[in-house]
Amino acid sequence: MNPGHSSPAHSNPAHSNPAHSNEDLLCIEKVLFTEEQIESRIIELAAEIEAHYRGRSLKLIGVLKGSVFFLAALTRRMSIPVRIDFLGISSFSQRSGAPGLVRISKDLDDSIEGEDVVLIEDIVDTGFTLRYLMQTLASRGPNSLAVCTFLDRTSRRIVQVPVDFRCFEIPDRFVVGFGLDYNQLYRNLNYVAVISTSRDTPM
Ligand code: IMP
Ligand code: MG
Repeated sequence: MNPGHSSPAHSNPAHSNPAHSNEDLLCIEKVLFTEEQIESRIIELAAEIEAHYRGRSLKLIGVLKGSVFFLAALTRRMSIPVRIDFLGISSFSQRSGAPGLVRISKDLDDSIEGEDVVLIEDIVDTGFTLRYLMQTLASRGPNSLAVCTFLDRTSRRIVQVPVDFRCFEIPDRFVVGFGLDYNQLYRNLNYVAVISTSRDTPM
């Protein structure tokens, strides 16, 4: 989780009572997007991206680990030639409570020079992570660089970053599933759900 983002208020009992299902442990308030809704939106988005890059080949760069599920689902709906690569990042929170510093913990395997690149994110929240990644990738001389995010929470944006393609805009609530985690858990849910956090306001 990004340091600028407050953690869910309740401690996660996942470790104390393994007999409960994930849903019980998570206190899911509601499902925001079902598996079917995600799938049909991804089909639309894949078509949108293909139309934009027709006749070209694409390099999709997934940001580990959250974007893996989205990237896999998206690329399976695309028929133009795509290559994939991954970037791993770590965020460090600062004592001041200011947004965290980001650093690359796993770099790309290959150069992106001269390529049409689409950076694939799980969620864009404050925008700090994306701004750092865009600056880093832009300095490597791609032919073009665009951003595609699964979720976009524009209400929390602090730095302005370009989002070219997005699956869903979401309200100001902490979510898990389809790649998004809480304490590294729940990435594998095939839906996106809202869970409680200390900063949440009633919807
Ligand atoms: P940003 O730098 O504030 O835009 O942070 C984006 C990162 O914070 C994402 O890539 C996620 O790792 C994490 N994040 C933000 N909101 C959520 C959420 O609701 N659930 C899980 N992770 C989140
Ligand atoms: Mg991320």
